[in-house]
Amino acid sequence: MSAGADDRGFETRAIHAGQDPDPVTGAVVPPISLSTTFAQQGVGRHHGWEYSRSANPTRAALEACVASLEGARHGLAFASGLAAEDAVLRQLRPGAGIALGGDAYGGTFRLIDKVYGASGHPWAAVDLTDPAGLERDWPEGTALVWAETPTNPAMAVVDIAAVAEVAHRHGALLVVDNTFATPYLQQPLALGADTVVHSSTKYLGGHSDVVGGFVAVDDDDLAAGLGFTQNAVGAVPSPIDCYLVQRGLKTLAVRMDRHCDNARAVAEMLSEHPAVERVLWPGLPGHPGHDVAKRQMRDFGGMVSFVVRGGEDAAVAVCERTEIFTLAESLGAVESLIEHPARMTHASAAGSPLAADPGLVRVSVGIETTADLVADLRQALDTAA
Ligand SMILES: Cc1ncc(COP(=O)(O)O)c(C=O)c1O
Repeated sequence: MSAGADDRGFETRAIHAGQDPDPVTGAVVPPISLSTTFAQQGVGRHHGWEYSRSANPTRAALEACVASLEGARHGLAFASGLAAEDAVLRQLRPGAGIALGGDAYGGTFRLIDKVYGASGHPWAAVDLTDPAGLERDWPEGTALVWAETPTNPAMAVVDIAAVAEVAHRHGALLVVDNTFATPYLQQPLALGADTVVHSSTKYLGGHSDVVGGFVAVDDDDLAAGLGFTQNAVGAVPSPIDCYLVQRGLKTLAVRMDRHCDNARAVAEMLSEHPAVERVLWPGLPGHPGHDVAKRQMRDFGGMVSFVVRGGEDAAVAVCERTEIFTLAESLGAVESLIEHPARMTHASAAGSPLAADPGLVRVSVGIETTADLVADLRQALDTAA
């Protein structure tokens, strides 16, 4: 779905873009359009809708809204974040190479290594926190650079503008996975990226009740290729799932403000706790990506990782001792979650250059009462030490 220019503020667009009241009934919340098919007035004469895999009004509303929030001309919704990533990777020509940042979601690594690598797309792990090094050691044949920022789970920060410049000099495209930052905190297309992907399962949905993915692009040809894939492969979200993400978007800005505030309080406590060796949150002045994050993000996000003294056993013990932070995969919702990346979300990257540090714990800081979250993590660290 293509979006027109809209210069209203972020919060206004999150609530109104693509969501005009229903023209038939005036319903302020546009109805969920469950119909799989649409009546035609004559063969090939219709209201713009034919069959819901190809296009659906509820999906189109979501696509217009997220495209607007990313400042993109085109947006496409998918059935999961990995389905969205797959659609982006399907645009590669046969044999084209991929440069993947040295830290990324384990499922992204699995898709690039086990699916695309295995079907003839060479890939290399590159340090995207060092654009000069990328320029120097550019992997021959790379057509696509794949960056997360901040990364999952090590919270590294990639200078999007600098990496886009290097990629473009080599005739390659830059994809940014904006799942951790969300368009509220960071808009990669405005910084020079070509494609934005999301797991909308996370902050966009925001309530741990919907799996979804999204791709946003400016380029018309890229959008046409992605649109073809969306219809031809068919990994589309249901209208109810689209509605749930849409509903989540309305509070994205206020949720993100609280996620960021709570993450700051958690990161500051962790920084002073004797059982913690290192805290990875870009809002801390000592974080190696702090200056870049300050430049390209509105705030530093709700994800915090930390290395526990005592290695893997100590990290696992902390994960099992929290009471408000639920031990679970996923992230980005109102409730706080804790996990052990090496054994959980990133187990598929074991033994690879993207393997997670076994002493690392990742928390998705929710929007519960700040003091409760800080106290919960503190007691888990006190008793695990
Ligand atoms: C940064 C990031 N990108 C993509 C994905 C994949 O999204 P999904 O689980 O919706 O397929 C995840 C999932 O955790 C993720 O954390």
